[in-house]
Amino acid sequence: MDRRRLGLALPALLLSTPLARPALAQGASLGSSLGSSLGLLARERGITFGAAVQGRFLAADPAYAAAFATDAALLVPEWEAKWAALQPEEGRFDTAPLDAILAWARQRGRLVRGHALVWHEAMPPWLEPALAEGRARAEGLLAAHMDRVLSHARNQIRDWDVVNEPIANPAGSDVPQAGDAMLRDTPWLRALGPGYVEMALRMARQRDPTLRLVINEYGIEEDTPDAAEKRRRLLALLRGLLERNTPLDAVGIQGHLQLVRPFTPAPFAAFLAELRQMGLAVLVTELDIRETAQAPQDMAARDALVAERAYAFVSTALEAGVRTFLTWGLSDRESWLVKEPAVALKDGRAHRGLPYDESWQRKPMWTALARAFQGGNG
Ligand code: XIL
Repeated sequence: MDRRRLGLALPALLLSTPLARPALAQGASLGSSLGSSLGLLARERGITFGAAVQGRFLAADPAYAAAFATDAALLVPEWEAKWAALQPEEGRFDTAPLDAILAWARQRGRLVRGHALVWHEAMPPWLEPALAEGRARAEGLLAAHMDRVLSHARNQIRDWDVVNEPIANPAGSDVPQAGDAMLRDTPWLRALGPGYVEMALRMARQRDPTLRLVINEYGIEEDTPDAAEKRRRLLALLRGLLERNTPLDAVGIQGHLQLVRPFTPAPFAAFLAELRQMGLAVLVTELDIRETAQAPQDMAARDALVAERAYAFVSTALEAGVRTFLTWGLSDRESWLVKEPAVALKDGRAHRGLPYDESWQRKPMWTALARAFQGGNG
């Protein structure tokens, strides 16, 4: 199987329904970043822009749905395609929340990517003890999950994060670590051994040879010793997989950036070049930008820093050939950066790391993305 050929399959799917023009856009030219749509601006340059979506807001909040209709050519379910959502009890699958997103996307001709078939989080409570019952049992559970999920979504999800976050964080890092091994210590690793990544990829390819298979990872973007080590570990994993002819088409770079860490284009670009030399496509899958308590008090200053970082990161990736970008949500209103205690700002302020603020006003980050997609001329 030629993974380059498969990697090209996705962009060939065209939007059957145009991205909605926002009210603001009336009379504005498509080329002006104000009043257009990130999805449209990107598409003019052969780039796909999308965002993580939460079905419950899509159904209940017209402003939320309108922003996704305007800006997102591609959707990824933020929760609905994870194990906890899809298989809350062993053998009982609940695809209704995912189906609602698929229907919304289908009606508007939007692409949907899948996230995630193997991950150590968002596991239903029954899964970890079941995996611990032995290798054969664990393999059977993974096979059954893929059988059901991949056949169910077959005609609509053409692109899956098969394994999410397999790499261990380096010891001494400021993120939770799992020892010094290359692979993160997870219930999947413990049940199936280090070959679980390869096993999952083979299972997915076997069930649908036309899927684009992705390994998705975080903490590999910035100019820190930890990120450099994590990049090295990921490259070693990928080299081993490709040497064994494992089916793999792309690497997803999550892009959960933190302003407190330096971002330098050169090492990141070199990493992207290595991935592409391996014949892998690269996607930015979960972009958002975190501040710390040291962030300035002034809102405009905060937004400018976030926008500047978004522009530097996205334009570096574009230059290195990345053609798919997703932000992890569109607005600060529903962002995990605000909702999740582990990542929320501790000083009472809310993160402002996405293109829209909590009242759906476009922020400088929206304009920075538009400008990057337009090649810096927006
Ligand atoms: C997060 C969601 O945004 C939250 O709503 C959920 O509670 C936990 O997961 N990396 C990933 C995503 O791959 O799946 C995570 O999403 C964010 C970090």
